[in-house]
Amino acid sequence: MKYLITENRMESMIKDYILKNYDVLDVEYTTSMSYLASGPNEKGETNVTVKVINVYIENFKHQKSRSEIKDIKSKLTNLSKRNKVIVDIGAGCSDLPKMIIEHCRKKNNELILIDSKEMLNLLPDDSFIQKIDAQFPKCYDLIYKYNQKVDVIIVYSVLQYVMIDSPFYEFIDKALSLLNNGGQILFGDVPNISKRKRFFSSSNGKLFHKKFMNTDDEPLIEYNKIEFDLIDDSIVLSIISRARAQGFEAYILPQRNNLPMSNRREDILIIRQ
Ligand SMILES: C[S@@+](CC[C@H](N)C(=O)[O-])C[C@H]1O[C@@H](n2cnc3c(N)ncnc32)[C@H](O)[C@@H]1O
Repeated sequence: MKYLITENRMESMIKDYILKNYDVLDVEYTTSMSYLASGPNEKGETNVTVKVINVYIENFKHQKSRSEIKDIKSKLTNLSKRNKVIVDIGAGCSDLPKMIIEHCRKKNNELILIDSKEMLNLLPDDSFIQKIDAQFPKCYDLIYKYNQKVDVIIVYSVLQYVMIDSPFYEFIDKALSLLNNGGQILFGDVPNISKRKRFFSSSNGKLFHKKFMNTDDEPLIEYNKIEFDLIDDSIVLSIISRARAQGFEAYILPQRNNLPMSNRREDILIIRQ
């Protein structure tokens, strides 16, 4: 039995997973989406392909979170220390906050998770975890109590939502106010429309688009237009200058290139000296 799966950056992970968990002899990759459909299995069931695709999606998400936590740990060096105070703003409910919880358990850290009640309810409870049901910065008691007491703040894949429905610079400033001396904050996985345009204007970006979309068409890039609600270079650079003007060190960092959106997203690391 042979399954055909489209070629992608997670292929070896998918192949290993399928070979381990399914009764198949081999998994073959192609470059065309049209090969996604595969033949029946030994029981004559033709819906196995759907199963394999679902496995791909679930496992892809898990693998993505594993790559993200690796990347996050390499940037937030305070995470390797013990007995620290960690805040995750916009924790969500994916594998990533679950991995952060397990990491904090091992390191004996205090962990504060901030998000909506619906999200927080989907995460485990424990004595070292405090769940704050709030749209940051609308948790003023916490902000007052933890002023300059936090060693690590993770704000991962969240700034794009803050841009739309929270006071943007109040969010940034209040988050910075929590940092202890030596404290680090990562505004991670920030989609930057200027970076996206630069990428899709480049030869590599054009090739990527054609291969990914299975088309000969060029990517559509529009300049000189108002980008409502989107983060661009001006916003990213303004966060850096604002933090530096307020006495912090601030850096723009690339994401590891095994992260699926690394060609259009980036991270901002800010440290209180
Ligand atoms: C794309 S998810 C990211 C979740 C998680 N950080 C991850 O990377 O897997 C964005 C999360 O941010 C939360 N969020 C957006 N704005 C927020 C705010 N101002 N305060 C707290 N959470 C916020 C949303 O509820 C959502 O759970």
